Amino acid sequence: DLGGYPHYMAKEIQEQPESVERIIRGRLDDRFGVARLDGLNLTPRELRGFARVKILGCGSAYYVGQIGATMIEELARIPADAEAASEFRYRNPIIEADTLYIAVSQSGETIDTAFAVEEIKRKGGRVVGLVNVVGSTIARACEGGVYLHAGPEIAVASTKALTNMAVGFALIALALGRVRDLSNADGQRIIDAIRALPGQIKSILDFEPEIAEHAKTVAAAKSLFFVGRVRGYPVAREGAQKFKEISYRHAEAYQTSELKHGPLALIDEALPTVAIVPSDELTGRNLAAVQQIKARGGAVLAVTHADVDFGELDVPRIVVPKTEPELDPILLTIPLQLLAYHAALTLGYDIDKPRNLAKSVTVE
Ligand code: BG6
Repeated sequence: DLGGYPHYMAKEIQEQPESVERIIRGRLDDRFGVARLDGLNLTPRELRGFARVKILGCGSAYYVGQIGATMIEELARIPADAEAASEFRYRNPIIEADTLYIAVSQSGETIDTAFAVEEIKRKGGRVVGLVNVVGSTIARACEGGVYLHAGPEIAVASTKALTNMAVGFALIALALGRVRDLSNADGQRIIDAIRALPGQIKSILDFEPEIAEHAKTVAAAKSLFFVGRVRGYPVAREGAQKFKEISYRHAEAYQTSELKHGPLALIDEALPTVAIVPSDELTGRNLAAVQQIKARGGAVLAVTHADVDFGELDVPRIVVPKTEPELDPILLTIPLQLLAYHAALTLGYDIDKPRNLAKSVTVE
């Protein structure tokens, strides 16, 4: 049921304030500044014992996994990384007893991710799931987990499930952080920020008409770059992925820091860049990169915060509300969903069922 929306993707984007409420509900403990994740089936001592975190997922779930890895490193100070489950399963991975493996999947049926879970279990590793569909193959195979409660997602291009994955990682990072050196006060700071997310997402969605105008401009280009640095890089990757999936435009994500090591050669009037420029400790460096792109004739659309001062730079902006810096990727991703959606709408493509893609790839 489209509920009056023209596409499931539009509906699912608009549902995010409520779907984020659902993943948070009952899981925030103000007294101890921690997330209560009983479904993980891990004791505080077990949580405390992990030396590393390895996140596995495919496609967009993998990119959100990268967002999650950064959150876990920042809040819990445990080495964490994400890998495409489709690669992991084919490379004889080293499975360690003191690593927490996290499988991320909307459907819970993606065969590459499911296989990775079985391989980890077979070698004695501890794997938990961050899954949307209750009772799905991956949810059942994992020894514990956090359900996303995003509700059914129909559009092939995932939106509300991804946002809940990112929020789920914030909860897991909090749980891992609070059995280590994250203070109660810092835990509370993150809890307060998590609680504010639904209202902040709503305020981004209110800017849909402006974002639609930006989408018309970028849809005119044959090819574009998405760039971000550290927290912003997986945001750029997911933005590019969504863009290419439904608008069939070539969109390439790079680390902003890597531009000068190669891709800058491609910049000219015909190649616009969507730049993730949050207000954080790297703003100055990101602005310098924007300046370098502009100096080569490249157009830039920035996804940024209100207090970032672009000075003389003539750069159109999509402004998102500020949260705690560790959680910035959650909100920075939202306008990129709308950008991809409206670009595809402008170009007249089948938004909910893009060519060559399935909602979940369940066969080899
Ligand atoms: C891909 C879908 O095949 O699988 C993507 O086209 C999705 O949209 C990816 O992100 C992973 O799916 P899931 O269900 O495991 O999150």
